[in-house]
Amino acid sequence: MEKLVITGGTPLKGDVVISGAKNAAVAILPATLLIDGICTINNLPNISDVKIYCEILEYMGAKIKWNSKNEITIDTRNISTTIAPYDLTHKFRASYYVLGAMLSRKGHVQVGMPGGCKLGARPIDQHIKGFEALGATVEVENGNITAKADKLIGNSIYMDVVSVGATINVMLSAVLAEGTTVIDNAAKEPHIVDVANFLNTMGADIRGAGTDIIKINGVKKLSGNATYSVVPDQIEAGTFMLAAVASKGDITIKNCISKHLDSITAKIIEVGGHIEDYGDSMRIWCDSRPSKANIKTLPYPGFPTDIQPQMGVVLSIADGTSIINESIWESRFQYTDELNKMGAKITTNGKTAIFEGIETLSSAPVYACDLRAGAALIIAGIIANGKTEIYNLEHIDRGYENIEEKFRKLGANIERVIE
Ligand code: EPU
Repeated sequence: MEKLVITGGTPLKGDVVISGAKNAAVAILPATLLIDGICTINNLPNISDVKIYCEILEYMGAKIKWNSKNEITIDTRNISTTIAPYDLTHKFRASYYVLGAMLSRKGHVQVGMPGGCKLGARPIDQHIKGFEALGATVEVENGNITAKADKLIGNSIYMDVVSVGATINVMLSAVLAEGTTVIDNAAKEPHIVDVANFLNTMGADIRGAGTDIIKINGVKKLSGNATYSVVPDQIEAGTFMLAAVASKGDITIKNCISKHLDSITAKIIEVGGHIEDYGDSMRIWCDSRPSKANIKTLPYPGFPTDIQPQMGVVLSIADGTSIINESIWESRFQYTDELNKMGAKITTNGKTAIFEGIETLSSAPVYACDLRAGAALIIAGIIANGKTEIYNLEHIDRGYENIEEKFRKLGANIERVIE
């Protein structure tokens, strides 16, 4: 079993380069299934979710060549099956994007139920509603989702909830449909825009991504033969920004888009941190104990749920009492039990958590219950007195490239140990 061992107490200092966005990469990879050609994707994060996606694409007949650790060339001219099996799809959430892409490309698809972090109920009713609106029939049985359509025809779809996954899946299914599809109440995250940009580079006609209303004019074919660079990871950037604040450090994040980080920047300033914004890089520092703040997670451009646990670490040592209201996932406070083992004083009640700030955390053996919880525990270990051990690293490796190496370069005393 692998664990991270962190000896805390060092303020982080130096530069860190942010990788490509996980949640964009895991949508762009299946989007290549729509292309009858070859394309190259760079700034791809080298994380386990990306590697599993490559396995799914190869299983389906794609040819993949790794040009470097962050660049691949994919040939999707000879897709040989419309089935993505459960033993691959259950390993992460984004496997359900094969549905939209293959429904569009072949008119038939069967995908094993997706997995992913256990954050509470994760229904896919809005994905199904979108496919059905375009003319598909969808069935869920024996652990598989099957979608079929003789022909997909554009339609107007109102999303009952703002959903990243459903917005992307419907966008994928509509790209080759006949006529125009309009997605109303669409998600606006940077990765939505990135997937639309990727598809447009390959010949699609998608307008309005990044706003509430996305219009997709169906085209006959996507032909590829282009290179696309994945947008920088907003959540990884936010993770390092908050690690700088929590550790009273001074770091510069490089390869970021500061505009995507506005809600995080605003909260960092509110708790007493400082920011210098250079557009594609940012300096973040903090020289005093953070002050209390209240947070409510919301879809973009609101404060991201995927940064809530990392912010929770900052608030656990803040001067005063803070409240976090989690509005997206009902089980996103599991990490607070682990922080409480480290001396934090956090009480939860449903989707609300109250953080009574203490001076400092103390080390303990802790378990990453999901990806962002794992990132939060690393920050907790970096600021705690003593030696913290973090288990369940497979969650962290799904979404962060070389995380311990990046933190080590910033001065953290962190090692991966095999027991
Ligand atoms: N929802 C429905 N019906 C649906 C789809 C979603 O009710 O058909 C609800 C969900 O239950 C949730 C809300 O809508 O309450 C938002 O869910 P969304 O569909 O936006 O989430 P997702 O697409 O499953 C992505 C990210 C998550 C991130 C959320 C919210 C990927 C692969 N995952 O999940 O990322 O938390 O959006 O921003 O893009 C992570 O990276 O750690 C992570 C969990």
